[in-house]
Amino acid sequence: MTKFIFVASAALILLFSTADAAIYKGQKEFVKKCVKCHDTGQNFVSSHKMRYWKKMMAKKGKRLAELHLENPKAKKSWSYFKSRKYTRKTKHLKQFLVEYAKDSGNVPACN
Ligand code: HEC
Repeated sequence: MTKFIFVASAALILLFSTADAAIYKGQKEFVKKCVKCHDTGQNFVSSHKMRYWKKMMAKKGKRLAELHLENPKAKKSWSYFKSRKYTRKTKHLKQFLVEYAKDSGNVPACN
């Protein structure tokens, strides 16, 4: 029994720390790529619900990319949204955005 608890908690810790790492990577990407235009950062993320971000980031962030590519005001972001760098990071971005959505109950730490 003790052994089981030990193994189970070790697995849990591992699970949480990898999720944290992805959220952290997503946050870094967000700060680097999105904040220059959406300068309210944290407020911007938490002004949308989890469902909204999930939809935006589904299929490797297709909707989010389209939304920007269709908008001439977002022209400066086009090369990014068309790049493979973006599609590779969407998984992390999604985790971050959903984690701090309006109805998630989480507030990002300032670090
Ligand atoms: C070059 C500037 C630019 C960059 C970089 C950029 N955006 Fe945008 N984004 C815009 C513009 C312009 C709009 C259209 C909003 C409007 O018309 O008021 C927009 C709209 C949006 C919207 C929908 C409107 C809203 O307020 O909810 C979301 C969501 C969004 N961006 C998320 C992101 C995310 C996430 C990133 C980073 C991966 C990002 N944007 C990077 C310029 C940018």
